[in-house]
Amino acid sequence: MNQVKRILLLVGSAKQTISTSELIGTYLIERLQSNGYETETLFAHKLLKSNSWERLLSSTDRADIIVIAFPLFVDCLPYSVIKSLEQIAGHRQAKSELKEQTLVCLANCGFPEQHHNDTAIAICRQFAREAGFKWAGALSLGGGEAIGGQPLFKIKRTTKNVMKALDLTAEAIALGHPVPQEAIDSMAKPMVPKWIYLLMGGWGWKRRAKKNRVLKTILHRPYEG
Ligand SMILES: Cc1cc2nc3c(=O)[nH]c(=O)nc-3n(C[C@H](O)[C@H](O)[C@H](O)COP(=O)(O)O)c2cc1C
Repeated sequence: MNQVKRILLLVGSAKQTISTSELIGTYLIERLQSNGYETETLFAHKLLKSNSWERLLSSTDRADIIVIAFPLFVDCLPYSVIKSLEQIAGHRQAKSELKEQTLVCLANCGFPEQHHNDTAIAICRQFAREAGFKWAGALSLGGGEAIGGQPLFKIKRTTKNVMKALDLTAEAIALGHPVPQEAIDSMAKPMVPKWIYLLMGGWGWKRRAKKNRVLKTILHRPYEG
């Protein structure tokens, strides 16, 4: 009898509202769920806050595929994700035998160009090597704020290439293949034209500044020498 395959999604965003990381990660694991995988989702910031590293390590041990979905923070991974990776690496390096487990990463950043995620993805690849995972590759999304907390299927016109990338990735990894180039290319396509994204982004900052009564001081640079 075949054993049930398990997939663990580790979400790296600490947003109070639903994040782009959670939305794209959940979309991917739901596609795998329909291929018979059992799924589990953990949030890195909650693990960090409650020091629940045993939970992370036992879930990681059980999983056949680990998906890490994270936002880019200052050209790197958020601290809660780095801490999670350190815990997993330490745990696995102390083992004499490891079963075959696959790692996939989904990175999204706020700038419109997805290449800002390159360094963070390289860190994930190195982590896979050092912690003994089979590296299946990564999808890199720019302008992640364009999703704005909406389920992907609800804003299909914006997310059609994102969904295509995730569908192709789910199909590939279910067969034990790496993330296909076609999926990487599809995820890299801008969701909205750059000028619209920048206009909306600027408008959003001003709206938030007004709400917080700092609109007139938004361009101040108090620490500039
Ligand atoms: C502390 C912090 C640092 C960030 N640094 C970067 C960055 O270096 N480059 C970038 O493109 N976006 C940066 N962003 C923007 C996020 O990556 C972006 O808003 C992302 O879409 C959020 O994804 P989430 O909804 O999964 O949290 C930063 C955001 C925060 C809060």
